[in-house]
Amino acid sequence: MLIAGLLALSDPPHDARVELGSANLGFGWLRVDEQSGTIAELGRGPAPASPDLEGTHGAPLLISPAFVDTHLHLPQFDSVGADGLGLLSWLREAVFPAEARWADPDFAGQMTTRVARKLLAHGTTAVAAYATVHHEGTRNAIRALSDAGLRGHVGQVLMDQEAPAELVRPAAQLVREASTLRPVGRIEPAVTPRFAVSCSRELLAGAGELAQASRALVQTHLSETREECRRVRTLHGAVTYTEVYRRAGLLGSRTLLGHGIWLNQKERAMLAEMGSTIAHCPTANLFLESGSMNLGENRRAGVRTCLGSDIAGGSDVSMPRVARAMIETAKSRRLLASAAFRARVTVPSAAQAWWQITTGNACTLALPGNGELQAGAIADLVIIDPARGPEGDREWSHRDDPIGAVLYGWDPRWITHTFAAGKPVYSA
Ligand code: GUN
Ligand code: FE
Repeated sequence: MLIAGLLALSDPPHDARVELGSANLGFGWLRVDEQSGTIAELGRGPAPASPDLEGTHGAPLLISPAFVDTHLHLPQFDSVGADGLGLLSWLREAVFPAEARWADPDFAGQMTTRVARKLLAHGTTAVAAYATVHHEGTRNAIRALSDAGLRGHVGQVLMDQEAPAELVRPAAQLVREASTLRPVGRIEPAVTPRFAVSCSRELLAGAGELAQASRALVQTHLSETREECRRVRTLHGAVTYTEVYRRAGLLGSRTLLGHGIWLNQKERAMLAEMGSTIAHCPTANLFLESGSMNLGENRRAGVRTCLGSDIAGGSDVSMPRVARAMIETAKSRRLLASAAFRARVTVPSAAQAWWQITTGNACTLALPGNGELQAGAIADLVIIDPARGPEGDREWSHRDDPIGAVLYGWDPRWITHTFAAGKPVYSA
């Protein structure tokens, strides 16, 4: 299939540890080969033949690498909007009852199929996702995401304390079960201790050993709220939250830590040294009133960051909305900063935010071939027509900052197609 329009190409940062790359637009075309699942050819300028897809309102399509969501919870998609609770009571009252429903593996599979459809309709083809503590439910979730064509990492949630009896298991059983999970299609199992509150020292250590033996991605939560940090100190003793994970062998270059808000400089230095990544979840941090992550400080300390929706802590599955929330969080930090510190606040541009939800996030999840428009890359694509519909913007490509116009004016109904490994998996 030949597609023509404005290509969202990627300018890599000079130093990916401390800088964001940037999306830049260029007129061009690409040919998707469904057989190999790749971008077979890509060129700049006019298409060599009549395209199968192009803008139809006198404005070009925007052709972008599909979105990547580096932190979300599959069983929480029906729990969006449960407002008014801080993290720990929200988990108790809204989240754990929803996750308990995954005791039925068929329900887990069916719910994940529904979630996958929603992700694809919003242009997301790759994820790092949490399932639940249920082993069979997790297996069904992995299969359902794979069947839908998604790529990425999914983990059985490890919890052996501080949760309802029906959602905790003995540490040894959990580690054994998680160790038997295998990749299915484009989905790989991830080692997923929920957070230090709901894991004993034994479970964290078992998870660390499994991560080192399997080389799987590790995902957990770190320093999201102050109440949680106090609970971790009570449960794990007088070391920093980050040190709890380091001692368990859970910090490495394939470790993703959700939130990372309430960190001190020693913890940031430790994360930078271990090469671990903070999954920034700005919509969730606002919804749960957890705090506001200091992007500039983390990056200056050399800590890698990526971006996630954290459904249902975050309410928005749409990654351009999460990207915008990242910018807004940074702007609100700048607004509140004292004059002496204002210049130190990093506010990403729209082009950098777009890069983050495509190329940057794909890089964090170690998805070779994803996140870039180039010949030979995996054809995970989202095709966007901002001129669509009565309120469409037919002049979008002529705006001073076309990526800004798309990001700030974002309407998920602009997505006309999502491709996963060259297959059309959503069209509207
Ligand atoms: N910390 C531990 N579990 C969770 C969860 O499900 N969502 C969020 N936002 N934070 C958590
Ligand atoms: Fe989360």
